[in-house]
Amino acid sequence: MNPALRTIGVVGAGQMGRGIAQVAAHSGFTVLLHDEKQDALDAALGHIGDQLERQVQKGKLAPAVRSETLARLRPAKDAGAFAAADFVIEAVSENLPLKARLFESLDRTCRPDVVLASNTSSISITRLAAATRRPSLVIGMHFMNPVPVMELVEIVAGQSTSTATIETTRGLAKELGKTAVLAQDFPGFISNRVLMPMINEAIFALHEGVGSREDIDTVMRLGMRHPMGPLALADFIGLDTCLSILEILHAGFGDPKYRPCPLLRRMVDAGRLGRKSGGGFYDYDAGGAPA
Ligand code: CAA
Repeated sequence: MNPALRTIGVVGAGQMGRGIAQVAAHSGFTVLLHDEKQDALDAALGHIGDQLERQVQKGKLAPAVRSETLARLRPAKDAGAFAAADFVIEAVSENLPLKARLFESLDRTCRPDVVLASNTSSISITRLAAATRRPSLVIGMHFMNPVPVMELVEIVAGQSTSTATIETTRGLAKELGKTAVLAQDFPGFISNRVLMPMINEAIFALHEGVGSREDIDTVMRLGMRHPMGPLALADFIGLDTCLSILEILHAGFGDPKYRPCPLLRRMVDAGRLGRKSGGGFYDYDAGGAPA
């Protein structure tokens, strides 16, 4: 345990931020959870409470642990509260100007020794670091969805990230019960550089009529033991997110092998964004379960 790291600031109470906050509070950290939108903050706290309650009902979590975990979660309406944070994880939407502004402001608010990590899946850590006066303390800490379930954290070293920052982040990932890998700051890092071309290829296979959506997914589930087929996984991640990551790979490498499938683009244009919009390659009910 690192005694210097006891309070974690999490910015962004969306799907990823709330998962990170839940895992950190469950692992014994005091968590300051901030979101500009009060309703997002309220929804996140409600969601975490429900998730923990479900585990209590299944007999996987003691009721006292649920209460202690919730007591360690502090909604922070004002980002100024982050002056008390020992480590900050940013998990706002994937928008470079938004994240850069946020890093600039965190740099002013947080103590000068505090590591500022981004959960970005595709934005350059080096660029975010350049928005601060502490580039050696800026790092990527890319969690996978659903955060409480997935074991991996992809740590991303930017151009100036120091070895000490990498080691602090590795230590934190371990305390959160995750296994860390180290990636360098290239488009898509490791995870999305490997995952997105597979998803894109599955969409091309559907587009070209090689197989039905069910057959394509079944090949990868039963033939390769993936927990979800690539089309169902694309719906789970969000088709807009998949498209945006593919565009970053395509632009970043200038290589046509990352060209997003026209079918993916058309579905995003049509507003079929996957589970979150009620439909993508498959249809979903209001709770996000396959319809
Ligand atoms: N939050 C918290 N817990 C969840 C959850 C969620 N959203 N969804 C499922 N779980 C838990 C369930 O409570 C259950 O826990 P217990 O075993 O303790 O009861 C467990 O996960 C299994 O869930 P289910 O039985 O409901 O369903 P399943 O066995 O089909 O698993 C899944 C669901 C974990 C999502 C599984 O299908 C899976 O692993 N899918 C692949 C997910 C994946 O690849 N994620 C990475 C996406 S890429 C990414 O995140 C990075 C990026 O940059 C795009």
